[in-house]
Amino acid sequence: MCGIVAYLGEQPALPILIEGLKRLEYRGYDSAGVALLNGGLKVVKSVGRVSVLEEKLKQTPDLCGTVGIAHTRWATHGSVTELNAHPHSDDQHRFVLVHNGIIENYSTLKKVLEERGRVFETETDTEVLVTLIAELYEGDLEKAVQAAAREVTGAYAIVCCCADEPGVLVAARKGSPLMVGIGADEFVVASDPSAIVAHTSRAFALDDYNVCRIDKTGFRTSTIDNHEVSPKVMELELELEETELGGFDHYMQKEIFEQPRVIRNTLRGRLDHKEGRIVLGGLTEISKELVKARRFILTAQGTALHSAMIGEYLLEDLAKVPAECEYASEFRYRNPIIEENTIVIAVSQSGETADTLSALHEARDRGATSLGVVNVVGSSITRDTDAGVYLRVGPEIGVASTKAFLGQVAVLTMIAIHTGRRRFMSPDECATLLRELDQIPDKIERILQTAEAVKRVTEQHIHKENWLFLGRGYNYPVAMEGALKLKEISYIHAEGMPAAEMKHGPIALINDGMPVVFLANRGRQYDKVLSNIAETRSRGGHVIAVATEGDTHIESVADEVLWVPDCPEPLSPLLTVVPLQLMAYYAAVARGHDVDKPRNLAKSVTVE
Ligand code: F6R
Repeated sequence: MCGIVAYLGEQPALPILIEGLKRLEYRGYDSAGVALLNGGLKVVKSVGRVSVLEEKLKQTPDLCGTVGIAHTRWATHGSVTELNAHPHSDDQHRFVLVHNGIIENYSTLKKVLEERGRVFETETDTEVLVTLIAELYEGDLEKAVQAAAREVTGAYAIVCCCADEPGVLVAARKGSPLMVGIGADEFVVASDPSAIVAHTSRAFALDDYNVCRIDKTGFRTSTIDNHEVSPKVMELELELEETELGGFDHYMQKEIFEQPRVIRNTLRGRLDHKEGRIVLGGLTEISKELVKARRFILTAQGTALHSAMIGEYLLEDLAKVPAECEYASEFRYRNPIIEENTIVIAVSQSGETADTLSALHEARDRGATSLGVVNVVGSSITRDTDAGVYLRVGPEIGVASTKAFLGQVAVLTMIAIHTGRRRFMSPDECATLLRELDQIPDKIERILQTAEAVKRVTEQHIHKENWLFLGRGYNYPVAMEGALKLKEISYIHAEGMPAAEMKHGPIALINDGMPVVFLANRGRQYDKVLSNIAETRSRGGHVIAVATEGDTHIESVADEVLWVPDCPEPLSPLLTVVPLQLMAYYAAVARGHDVDKPRNLAKSVTVE
């Protein structure tokens, strides 16, 4: 979603801000802008890519200064125009502000401010917020931001500066991530650590309702009621190379191909083969609750929801605990009933998805034990849960999630085995599963070696505008994920569903040559999937089957086959999803789309 970068230090701010904006490009945006403080305030904005802003900046050569703020905007209030882009100023042009999130009571505030004679030139909530800060200003920017934060409802991460205090930046946060990087004689504030690591690895995340005032002598953090707080400064583990392409054409491609390595990392040190058990330090706090658990509720959005759906199958199958999975956005508003000994698992790459975070709060307030399955270290979900397990897959830059999905499924598999083992599973049964799990990265590598074949098959069908993805059991969520991947980057319409559901309506869509992708790997429902394949072909559908290596029968019933190695059924989603990721990638490339910047999509959805 929107991105924030701000700089205060000894160096010229502009190149640092632009480089920071480029590192945030992957999050999705439609316009960009910068403001520099140098005597007065100078603001330059443009619609489109950061490169367009750079061109425009070349025509503004006098733009200099060592303090500045910058933003990439993803429109929420007001259309995509230069005027609506950030930074926004008040009507006297004394204050500038960049803002992520949504101010919910902005129209009420706007009316009050208009009554006081303030004038607005945009439809944005952000212009209302900067005007409110200006209105409340009595010579101290930090106090004005605190006062404004007490009046607004909604979510925000902001950085503000003021022409009257040229050496000061004030940042604040509620419900939208913001970090402060502490360098030698410089500070970089950003909504994402990838814009900080080029300058420093020492940083802290602002907490909700906290404000941070920065000048060249240091920083001060306080609550919005002006009580001083001490932030927890940490070392960012992110390496700069991890955020770079490293020879690949796209981040999505890089992230698909690095899956064997990152999943090895997810599993590293967590499989105790000798004792036949899983070691997950993050679960220690809730080990008693896991033994007593009577129900798991998994909640997430998008791709993370699909891995959570696989988690539902895993927990019932391997841990024998009733489990259900639900869209976080629905769960939080349906007055959910949380019984005693319920564990809620929030699954999220970013750890910042607004709906998932709110669902988690709802469940926690109703007495559930909460557990996070999250990639980004120190993110909001990790701070608001009783326990958690990190994915350890490294930064995911590609907007379409791939390696995080695999990491989530791998972690949920370990949680299910761990819970099962604590309750009834024998060390031998567990050891067998662990041996199989250990082999998964090598097997993913084997699938990636077939990438050219996947590409060839995909390219034959990219002119088809409607695809179906069908699977049963563990591979029903994989079918959903395959369809989501294809539609979000290639803009082909695709539906994923349980294979049996096809007969209840969607079969009407199948016509000559329609690509129908079947997850037809060996498993309990293999024969039933074969029947669904026959029904599809007899109606003219073109069947592409993802099948188990060595399955000689499948070639006679499917039009094309993509191969995956054999493995126990509960682990199969870790393999079957890989050809579908490749398929989506090659389809998007062949259709000429910018894979890493899919239209209308944001990497992290921090508003409802
Ligand atoms: C799709 C995708 C999204 C996210 C969803 C949740 O490729 O990435 O569907 O999975 O927005 O995001 P996180 O996992 O950050 O909570």
